[in-house]
This record gives sequence, C-alpha cells and structure tokens, in this order.
Amino acid sequence: MILDALFDAARSAQARAHAPYSQFKVGAAIATPTGMIASGCNVENAAYPVGTCAEAGAIAAMVAAGEGRIEAILVIGDGPGLVTPCGACRQRIREFAMPDTPIIIAGPEGVRAHFTLANLLPHSFGPDNLSTA
Ligand code: THU
Repeated sequence: MILDALFDAARSAQARAHAPYSQFKVGAAIATPTGMIASGCNVENAAYPVGTCAEAGAIAAMVAAGEGRIEAILVIGDGPGLVTPCGACRQRIREFAMPDTPIIIAGPEGVRAHFTLANLLPHSFGPDNLSTA
C-alpha cells in the first residue's frame, strides 16, 4: 500500500537527518503518479538560516529523478505536535501539486493527520497564476 511505502521512506530519511542544532529530525516522502517515491530529510547548517527542510529535500530528489508531480506527500517528525510543513514548504509543494493533493502527517507511531494542499495553503499562488492571457 502506498501509505506504508511513504511512511517507511520518510522514516528512513528522518533517521539520516542532519539536525545537530534543533535536535528535531524530520523526514518527508513523495509519491509521484508514475509510482516512484522520493524522500528527503532536514539538513541544518552552522549558519542557521541556510538549513533546509525535509520537504525541500524530497522535492529536490523528485525533480532530480525526472518527476514533476506530487501525488501525495508524507512528513514525519517526533514529539507530540503535528509536523505540518512550514509556510515556505507549503509553497514549494504547491509548485508540483493540486489543491486536493494529500499532505499526510505522521509521528513515530504512525499516521496522525490527513490534510490537503488547499487545507494548508488556501487561495494559493501557483504556475497558472502567472498566466496573463
Ligand atoms: N523542519 C522540517 O524539515 N520540516 C517541517 O515541516 C518543519 C520543520 C525542520 C527545519 C529545522 O531543521 C527543524 O525542523 C526545526 O525547525
């Protein structure tokens, strides 16, 4: 099942996160329409603002693999709170997703919540908004 594959890929990526400053490891996994899964983790930096989110890493891996559409994305983090994508990552996801694209949030024990892109980024600005025709 795709959800299990996404969860496993995100959890594996999370384990490899480079988060020595926040100690908050995050993993993300994307399923594409062709059936591939791309994953990523947060990569922090001694120059703090340069760090990147797990979602950004997963999107970069997806694009580098030649894929251009997100069918679903799962994000996993530890702790009691939901690790919902930050604002910038919601916009990054928007570039490759539809309003109804699932954004699934998980913790170590399993899936915690289901959202859609439209839930998390309503009235968003995407590639179509650039059209002047
Ligand atoms: N982080 C992510 O990678 N994804 C999210 O959705 C939320 C936050 C990372 C950024 C930083 O390395 C750490 O979690 C703490 O904010």
